[in-house]
Order: sequence, then C-alpha cells, then structure tokens
Amino acid sequence: MSNIISVVSGKGGVGKTTFSINLAATLNAFGRECIIVDADICNPNVGLRLGIPHVSLSLQNVLNGEVKPQHSIFIHPTNLRIIPSSVAIDNDNINLMRLREVLEQLDELILIDSPPGMDESVEHIIEASDSVMVVTNPEHAAVIDAVKVIKVAKDLGKNNIYVVVNRVNQDVYELTTDEIELMCETPIIAKISEDVNIRKSSFENIPIINRNPYSKASIDYNYLASRLLREEYEPPSLLFLRRLFDK
Ligand SMILES: Nc1ncnc2c1ncn2[C@@H]1O[C@H](COP(=O)(O)OP(=O)(O)O)[C@@H](O)[C@H]1O
Ligand SMILES: [Mg+2]
Repeated sequence: MSNIISVVSGKGGVGKTTFSINLAATLNAFGRECIIVDADICNPNVGLRLGIPHVSLSLQNVLNGEVKPQHSIFIHPTNLRIIPSSVAIDNDNINLMRLREVLEQLDELILIDSPPGMDESVEHIIEASDSVMVVTNPEHAAVIDAVKVIKVAKDLGKNNIYVVVNRVNQDVYELTTDEIELMCETPIIAKISEDVNIRKSSFENIPIINRNPYSKASIDYNYLASRLLREEYEPPSLLFLRRLFDK
C-alpha cells in the first residue's frame, strides 16, 4: 500500500511546491525514499523548479490510463523521484478522481503537491491521501484559508491533518504558534524558517539540503523528517560557524 501525504494550502504562494520538494529531498537524505507527484495540473511547478520543464510522460498520461505510474517517474540528478505534470495548456479536462487508485499501484511513500484553492481537484487530492499537510504562513490571510481547507479535509473524513507554518521569522509582525493553532484547531507539525537560501536553491533547481545543508530551513526540514520517521535527530554542532561557509 502506498502512504500518501497531500500538501495543500487554500491560499496560493505560501510554499507548497517548495515544501513538497524539500521535504521529499530531506526524507531521501534520511534513507526514506519517496515520490513527489505534481497534481497542480493547471500550473505545474515541480518540474520547472527542478529544471525539468519538458517531459514525455506525465501524470496526465497516467490518469488517462496510457501508461503505468511506475513508468512515468522522472529521476532528478539529486535522486529525487517525480511524477511531473505536463505543462500543456489543455489540461482542464484532467480528472483527479482516479488519483488514489493509480498511486496505490506504486506501493511507495508519496507527497502530492497541489494547486491552491478548495475546488474539486483539491478535494480529489485530499480524498486520495492518508495524511494532509496544510501549509500556511504566519499571517491572517494565509491562516484563514488554511482553516477553510482544514474544514474541507475534516468534512471528507480525514483525521491525520497537520499544519506547517512556512516562512517563519519569529518577529512581532507575525501570528504566534498558539494563535495559529487556536485558529486552525489542528496541531502544528513543523515551522520552517524564512530563509534566503530557499530562493537560491530554487534558482539553481536543487533542494535546499543539497545546497545549504546547515541553513536554518534545512535544519527545520531535518527536524520534520525525523519526526515523521520517528527517528532521533541532533543538528550538527557549531551551526553558526558552518553557516559562514555555507553560501
Ligand atoms: N521558507 C522560505 N523562505 C523563503 N522563501 C520561501 C520559503 N518557502 C517558499 N518560499 C518562496 O515563496 C515563493 C512561493 O513558493 P511556492 O512553493 O511556489 O508556493 P506555492 O506552491 O504554495 O504556490 C517562492 O518564490 C519560494 O521561493
Ligand atoms: Mg505550487
């Protein structure tokens, strides 16, 4: 059986694609292989962010029954495995209703990157998943949309719902962990720091742990991966010094 985790948000631009790529890369680094599925059918970004804009086989071919999911996996130079979406513009008719059925065939740990909003395609993605990670930012507009998508997930009978607060600066201009948890009525599983290295690694088409393993966000991803895998994790010593050389 596949273990399927969906990454959703409500609001766009909060960091779902960044999170899917970087969590997958960190899980790989812990020795837990997984596959990223780009289910943002209309605006697929995973391939673009990893420098693989053109693919011959995609999630669309899998959903149409033209190819087996195992044959649509693209292997990135960093060993990340991805089922990309086609960047074709006629993707409107693709129906995600069969998503679980096709991903089940893989028997893997799967992270699904999704579009923003709460439309039918997001519902199908949530329905397909065993756990739902709701990415938000520590600001009202993002958290209010997170609350809405959490309600959708609860109405669909999902119990394993977790909030990820991304782009945390820990200053007085953002909502606190307590405030976010209170609004969402859902536990926060991780806080990922605002980190300029995310932009740098994204520009270079690689996950942050490959580029800046000692950066704040990389350490946050390590904590989350270890928590998901129920493994001990001790960050490297002298992080401050290491970061000086980690440009
Ligand atoms: N922790 C972070 N620190 C700094 N920038 C980030 C962080 N997470 C995401 N970003 C930036 O936010 C922007 C939106 O991220 P993206 O993953 O595309 O969001 P979404 O998939 O939810 O639309 C990108 O430019 C990305 O580089
Ligand atoms: Mg995205």
